[in-house]
Amino acid sequence: MRIPIAAGNWKLNYGPQQTAEFLQSIRSELTEVQGVVNLVFPPYISVPAAVQALNGSNIYVGVQNVSEHTQGAFTGEVSAVMAAELCSWTIIGHSERRMYHHETDEMTHSKILRALDAGLSCVVCVGEQLAQREADNSEAVVAGQIQRGLASLPAEKLKDIVIAYEPVWAIGTGRAASRDDAESMAQMIRSVFAEMYGASSAQDLRILYGGSATAANIAAFMESPEIDGALVGGASLKPEFVQISRIIAESRR
Ligand code: PGA
Repeated sequence: MRIPIAAGNWKLNYGPQQTAEFLQSIRSELTEVQGVVNLVFPPYISVPAAVQALNGSNIYVGVQNVSEHTQGAFTGEVSAVMAAELCSWTIIGHSERRMYHHETDEMTHSKILRALDAGLSCVVCVGEQLAQREADNSEAVVAGQIQRGLASLPAEKLKDIVIAYEPVWAIGTGRAASRDDAESMAQMIRSVFAEMYGASSAQDLRILYGGSATAANIAAFMESPEIDGALVGGASLKPEFVQISRIIAESRR
């Protein structure tokens, strides 16, 4: 069985002090939720505070991005090897990175390779924009992101890959995708992955839904056997994240 995941993408929210306060406030309740992998992704500067606040708990800390470079003259960047000194996960290819920082599938691909090499597990984000959806292009767009972004990965590292399907129009809008749409995209993603890496790797692949996921709508997504949890933005900044984690865990009991 695939162990489900509740992941919180904090984006540009919570400096070190707020990180420590928030995590101390949810730590004990979140730790009690069994049968789910809980992940939090604070901003880089807050990662040490998060690691410290969660020390000895079963809640994992990750970063929101890694550099495609390993070292050198790249002002403002942090390498996967550096991130791996403090934490075990990274998000890669979030749509906000693709939109505002011009990340291509090729950059996403090299970041994934760097991250896997450094021993980080990756939540790789894919998803179509509204115009692409309206042009009936969603499946082709997402399939292309998977094929290019996840090309030629070492077989022994496939277990370290999680895919988050996040339709761009659903992110931060309060307008989540429907369960059926998310399910059919997850099926499509799994079949593309199967073509690339075989049926058994595809069966083991965890696929999350992201985009205005809340405690109110997550149960519906989890009714689909194709969806293995959520990548949560706004609602992960609140105690609501504990509820979301609990609902995800209970859906697989
Ligand atoms: P949201 O963000 O839950 O605030 O829509 C999700 C994400 O961007 O990962």
